Amino acid sequence: MANRIILNAVSYHGKGAIQHIVPEVKQHGYKKAFICTDPGLVEHKVINKITDLMDEAELAYEIYSNVQPNPTVENVQSGVEAFKASGADYIIAVGGGSSMDTAKGIGIIIANPEFADVVSLEGMAPTKNPTVPLYTVPTTAGTGSEVTAYYVITDTARGRKFVCVDANAMSCVAIIDPDMMMSMPKGLTAATGMDALTHAIEGLITKAAWDMSDMLHIKAIELISKHLRGAVNNTEEGREGMALAQYLAGMGFSNVGLGLVHGMAHPLGATYNTPHGVANAIILPTVMKYNADYSGEKYREIARAFGVADVDKMHQEQYRQAAIDCVVQLSKDVGIPQSLHGIAKEEDLDLLAESAFADVCTSGNPRETSVYEIRELYKSLL
Ligand SMILES: NC(=O)c1ccc[n+]([C@@H]2O[C@H](COP(=O)([O-])OP(=O)(O)OC[C@H]3O[C@@H](n4cnc5c(N)ncnc54)[C@H](O)[C@@H]3O)[C@@H](O)[C@H]2O)c1
Ligand SMILES: [Fe+2]
Repeated sequence: MANRIILNAVSYHGKGAIQHIVPEVKQHGYKKAFICTDPGLVEHKVINKITDLMDEAELAYEIYSNVQPNPTVENVQSGVEAFKASGADYIIAVGGGSSMDTAKGIGIIIANPEFADVVSLEGMAPTKNPTVPLYTVPTTAGTGSEVTAYYVITDTARGRKFVCVDANAMSCVAIIDPDMMMSMPKGLTAATGMDALTHAIEGLITKAAWDMSDMLHIKAIELISKHLRGAVNNTEEGREGMALAQYLAGMGFSNVGLGLVHGMAHPLGATYNTPHGVANAIILPTVMKYNADYSGEKYREIARAFGVADVDKMHQEQYRQAAIDCVVQLSKDVGIPQSLHGIAKEEDLDLLAESAFADVCTSGNPRETSVYEIRELYKSLL
């Protein structure tokens, strides 16, 4: 079987990368930007790091800042109307996964209006046209949405979060500048960093993993193990390391898929508005244990990437436990809660389990699962 790799076209990495936005726009001759972001980034003036550059270069833009965390169908639809009214000819998404994913939905619907209901984009929708040119500037270090074909939208009417996977939604220019991430508070840094770790670990053991995706995911785990604690303490080295790590994980999982941790995290986001990274981080060790017998030698590589000594001398049970222990230790060190107590309710478990079972990400899990087993996994975390 042949393996396919699709990535975003151009990306800039490292401190000061944001300066490249003006020449990139000028080179393409775009007339007006539709800046898609959220209210927090306007309030904290993170957005000014871009609008100042655009003002100076006399580049026209309009700001749409209606995006909410775990963005909804309505966010996308009101964005589509705002884009049409703006006269813009390209989009700049500035923010975390929520802003970038909303921008993907807007850009795809403008180019493919037959999907205006948004929900028909779930899964691998047969869109014909690429999104409106989409620039992405992540301000969190987690989702990798700037390099992935994924976007995740919440259908509040049906109480579920759905995943769209579409190569037409890819960003053409991504600017990954750790300076854009410096203002993240500790809790957000920890949660988004653990989202990136979950991408790397699920992408490493997912059914479709192969040598090239393994290389990306192993390097991402190594960088996250080395830099997440520093990023939480806002060191420049930590921010730089996490900016790169989350991009590498995005390059990988976007091409091979994820697994049950994401499948189980999405219903928590839809039902309780739990931050995506927190949901993943709480579930990850439990599902790693559940998947251990279906992961071959991969947990040895995870333990090695975390810097565990003498992994080659360990027998299977030892290195598998070592990998899980490293994840738990990192999660504790960065202040992530260790259970779903106070987050999920026992009376919702049937619905959560059904929704997780139907999630697109669950199909990539190396171990076949069932609604019953997923319910038991949630229950063990309460
Ligand atoms: N497209 C993908 O490939 C992909 C992958 C994983 C997750 N997701 C989705 O992405 C969403 C989560 O995105 P996220 O975790 O990046 O968070 P987010 O975009 O939801 O942002 C969370 C909060 O952080 C604030 N914030 C962001 N950057 C900041 C900064 N630099 N300084 C201060 N505050 C800042 C925002 O204002 C917002 O209130 C979820 O909906 C998730 O399902 C998408
Ligand atoms: Fe994620």
